[in-house]
Amino acid sequence: MLTASDFVPAKYDLQTVDTGCVAWKCPSNIALVKYWGKRDPQLPENPSLSFTLDACATATKLSFSKRACPSESVSFKIFFEGLEQASFRPKIAHFFKRISAYAPYLNHFDLRIDSRNSFPHSSGIASSASGLGALALCVMSLERLLGEELMAEDYFYQKASFLARLGSGSACRSIRGSVVVWGADPQIAGSSDLFGSPFPHRLHDCFKHFHDTILLVDKGQKQVSSTVGHQLMHGHPFASARFSQARAHLTALSQALKTGDLKAFIQLVESEALSLHAMMMTSDPSFILMKANTLQIIHKIRAFREATGTHVCFTLDAGANVHVLFPAAEKEIVTPFITNELIAHCQQNHYICDRLGMGAVPLSDTQMLAAGIGQGEDPAD
Ligand code: PMV
Repeated sequence: MLTASDFVPAKYDLQTVDTGCVAWKCPSNIALVKYWGKRDPQLPENPSLSFTLDACATATKLSFSKRACPSESVSFKIFFEGLEQASFRPKIAHFFKRISAYAPYLNHFDLRIDSRNSFPHSSGIASSASGLGALALCVMSLERLLGEELMAEDYFYQKASFLARLGSGSACRSIRGSVVVWGADPQIAGSSDLFGSPFPHRLHDCFKHFHDTILLVDKGQKQVSSTVGHQLMHGHPFASARFSQARAHLTALSQALKTGDLKAFIQLVESEALSLHAMMMTSDPSFILMKANTLQIIHKIRAFREATGTHVCFTLDAGANVHVLFPAAEKEIVTPFITNELIAHCQQNHYICDRLGMGAVPLSDTQMLAAGIGQGEDPAD
């Protein structure tokens, strides 16, 4: 079993790299079994499982230029959609501090980060999973250039996920695979609290290309940050019952994903979404993140499912937006329902059509240009 010290680089050769750049596109993910409650350092109180998204992604380019002397903390500039973003600095600086023991070579470079999201910044969709996932992968590409060219692929992705986790827990589930488990579970081979790993079983065909249409009910800032939310689980009266429930749900959901039991899938996924919100509604202080439109959508989905026998269901993140999940085979019947009945409940009728994706991909120079990131500026300027 890997431990955190396995991710401290044994050796790296600073002579091999002077300047250069690497780039990755990393998707967002939506948890089906939710992670809500953590202990230091960013370890989950229960295992979680997510669907990797496809369309909602962040493209990040990391440019580096060797310094004459190493700096005390990581020297970096951050640009988002072409503009330098001072407001992003604290989160990134905190990330670099947290990973310093695992990526000590970063202090020997001036870094420039150029990022762009495929989804609107103010959509109520968190970009920390895709953003920190993409940055962690760039850091690993730099590590590989520093002499670890023969680095095993598994190690590359496990460490990228490990680093991403230290930035934002759920980011570790965005790196690799279409269905990802994070958190040690005796029944899931290879699962770990330290990083996310691909669901180890064959996914039933009915889940291939599964759709996730994200209804943007509220595009505002989150009322409760996930950092605060996780803390509210300390001393929460239902905490231990919730962690046991999540473990039992993971076991049952794994079975449903293997066998294609859509009925069980729906029951488990909706229960998880409502349990997450129940935790927030019963914490001290309490938060009600669902809006009237969230509830209208939920009722309509349940009524439509009942009336049509389709397998459409919902999940929620820590906010008012609704993820509408359905099998690709039911697209012809569910899509008109969404456009005719549900989008009226969205802010400015906005929604995003997404589906199950495969995980992060490296970007070539041409792809970087196509993604509109970075024009080859010198990080030291
Ligand atoms: O990764 P964080 O700290 O932003 O927490 C994410 C928590 C939820 O999105 C609500 C659930 C999850 O598992 O993604």
